[in-house]
Amino acid sequence: MDNDTQVTLDKAPLSATSLASKYDANVPRYTSYPTAPHFHKGIGEADYRKWLAETDRQRPVSLYLHIPFCSQLCWYCGCNTRVVNSHRPVASYVDTLLKEIDLTAEAIGGPLKVEALHFGGGTPNILQPDDVDRIFATLRRHFTFTDNAEIAMEIDPRELTAEFVAAARRNGLNRASVGVQDIDEQVQNAINRQQPWAVTEGAIKLLRDANVPSVNVDLLYGLPYQTEASVRETMRRMIALQPDRIALFGYAHVPWMKPAQKLLPEDAMPDSPSRHAQQTAAASMLEDAGYVRIGLDHYARASDSMAKALAAGDVHRNFQGYTTDGAESLIGFGASAIGKLHGGYVQNMVAVVEWRAAVAAGKLPVHKGIALSEDDRLRGAIIEELMCSFRVDLGKFADRPGLLGDHLQTELQRLQTFVDDDLLVRNGMNLAVTEAGRPFVRSMAAVFDTYFGKSSARHSKGV
Ligand SMILES: C[S@@+](CC[C@H](N)C(=O)[O-])C[C@H]1O[C@@H](n2cnc3c(N)ncnc32)[C@H](O)[C@@H]1O
Ligand code: SF4
Repeated sequence: MDNDTQVTLDKAPLSATSLASKYDANVPRYTSYPTAPHFHKGIGEADYRKWLAETDRQRPVSLYLHIPFCSQLCWYCGCNTRVVNSHRPVASYVDTLLKEIDLTAEAIGGPLKVEALHFGGGTPNILQPDDVDRIFATLRRHFTFTDNAEIAMEIDPRELTAEFVAAARRNGLNRASVGVQDIDEQVQNAINRQQPWAVTEGAIKLLRDANVPSVNVDLLYGLPYQTEASVRETMRRMIALQPDRIALFGYAHVPWMKPAQKLLPEDAMPDSPSRHAQQTAAASMLEDAGYVRIGLDHYARASDSMAKALAAGDVHRNFQGYTTDGAESLIGFGASAIGKLHGGYVQNMVAVVEWRAAVAAGKLPVHKGIALSEDDRLRGAIIEELMCSFRVDLGKFADRPGLLGDHLQTELQRLQTFVDDDLLVRNGMNLAVTEAGRPFVRSMAAVFDTYFGKSSARHSKGV
């Protein structure tokens, strides 16, 4: 036996409930490393311009466009958005967005290929068909989309019109993620998101009738009044519609950042063991229905590109969660949008007025960011692999030039508690998360995070 292999002593295994309580810590979701709370104002427009100019033009990039508007606020919402009652602010936002795209393309200084474009929000389908046409006309002036580029949008079914779908489709939309969350009326009332089943079904039909090749849905567990039985019912109805992918996110309760979440009845929110039970019940139903489990919260039909990417070890994680998009550079547009370049991360100003004023003055509207060290890149790669594949061979990182302290020995010691609880198997430098350990992968990833606990940043529950 390898000297480094850890032997687990005989012991009574902890129940799922005790494990959920033991690893109840609040940990980041690791959609980036370092995580967004560590971005700082020492990074600004000059850094971004330098990093953009250094972009490798031979490699396709991905783009993210943020549309921070909704017609009604869901009280659980953790996204950066605000309610608007007319189209005027949206149209004027698009004007600024087009100017930001022009300014950014100028800073890049030459043509770039794009392999993925994601519209997030807020609610991208609050745009009018003409807005969609204008955005794509500007993008296509500066960027060349690869033949198989993924063009994806987050969609609120309550707002979806046939005209919007037609506009998105003629501009290349090939993946739509439809927000559903939960189908139970009591839950929907508690979260201020009334969405009759017919609306959900109608939106999916509209997208399919327009031949959008991939239609996904977003669901949540951990919401007020959700029970294992109600989550099972939501899953049963959703599975019957056969979406290509289902994202089942754990509700992130961060009322100190999102004051509207204070409107949710906290005493009706499931505790960590109940959240765990909801998540596991849903996961097994989806697997029984033939969905392949991807990472922490995604499920894809076996024929879907993400299921194929998983088999090829090619799933990635970025601000939109799990993705097949492996581009090193992500260029963000819009208020609060985050971009990633080889040099580091940047985030745009969050308030639309500030973002607009900066763009109007001809500036790239960067508000903060972080430069990446080689140690950050290595740790980021370890965390991404753990979060996506649930296994990682640390050997391939420990001796790479960079920092990684004492070649990860401290991290291996800190992971021992997960090994003792049968959540992780360690064989030398090889780590594999067990079936029971999957819900705790964020806490394992946090062991590699040298920033964790070093700021006042607060996170949502790990399970
Ligand atoms: C921008 S929204 C989707 C598009 C559209 N606005 C809608 O809600 O239908 C993106 C997704 O984020 C997820 N989400 C929002 N707030 C969340 C929270 N506090 N915790 C976990 N997931 C959340 C929801 O599943 C939501 O569908
Ligand atoms: S969940 Fe979607 S529709 Fe609801 S407030 Fe957030 S972004 Fe808007």
